Amino acid sequence: MARDVTRTVDVIDGDPLTILAGIDLEVDEGDRISIVGRSGSGKSTLLNVLGLLDAPSSGELHFLGENAMRLRGAARDRLRGREVGFVFQQFNLLSGRTALENVATPLYYASGRSFWQRERIAREMLERVGLGERAAQLPSRLSGGEQQRVAIARALVRRPRLILADEPTGALDLATGQTVMELIEDVAAETGAALLTITHDPAIAALASTHLRLENGRLLTDASAAESSDSEDLQETAA
Ligand SMILES: Nc1ncnc2c1ncn2[C@@H]1O[C@H](COP(=O)(O)OP(=O)(O)O)[C@@H](O)[C@H]1O
Ligand SMILES: [Mg+2]
Repeated sequence: MARDVTRTVDVIDGDPLTILAGIDLEVDEGDRISIVGRSGSGKSTLLNVLGLLDAPSSGELHFLGENAMRLRGAARDRLRGREVGFVFQQFNLLSGRTALENVATPLYYASGRSFWQRERIAREMLERVGLGERAAQLPSRLSGGEQQRVAIARALVRRPRLILADEPTGALDLATGQTVMELIEDVAAETGAALLTITHDPAIAALASTHLRLENGRLLTDASAAESSDSEDLQETAA
């Protein structure tokens, strides 16, 4: 939950830049939220603040009952590692590691698991995204869509309560993007995670149930998306 969250950064030879001017957002279990906005409008900054990567400058931020404004250092890293899964446009896989090793990486930060347990959990997750057969491949040997599926498996392997996807289909062709997005949604539904997706693609945004737009550092209801999904509803009712 964010209330009046701001983020201002210092700029060399200039006035401080206010990227987020007052964000109010409630995210509940199972929510599907899309966020659109012009390039440079602060979408990635917002995701990083919500995912405990960047600290807000002011406001209130609660995460699973914890006051995230008071969380520092290792405690914040632990909470993020356990409860937040990030998916990025550029996949961000470790190029020298196999698909399986990439998926297992977040498990190294989880205490109390042996090498074999980590390997088994990672393998199950890789099978879940349809890449069991490619476990031993390096990312460079995989297609863009496959790399993003590995990144999804890595993001979800610890069963986070919040999945943050920053233009996850931006580097994929339309059909692959749609498939990848449906996969994220399915896996999120299995774990009851909330899913927040930044996208430029109206078809991807339409998969969400709440449509928001970031403008001048504030979150607004995205009226254009709401209109198009309303007319879909009407058509369904009429059919
Ligand atoms: N740490 C920072 N220092 C200075 N400027 C930043 C910093 N982070 C982001 N910005 C600027 O803030 C604006 C919003 O960035 P970003 O959140 O990446 O936008 P978006 O993801 O919507 O394209 C951009 O103009 C960017 O250059
Ligand atoms: Mg961005």
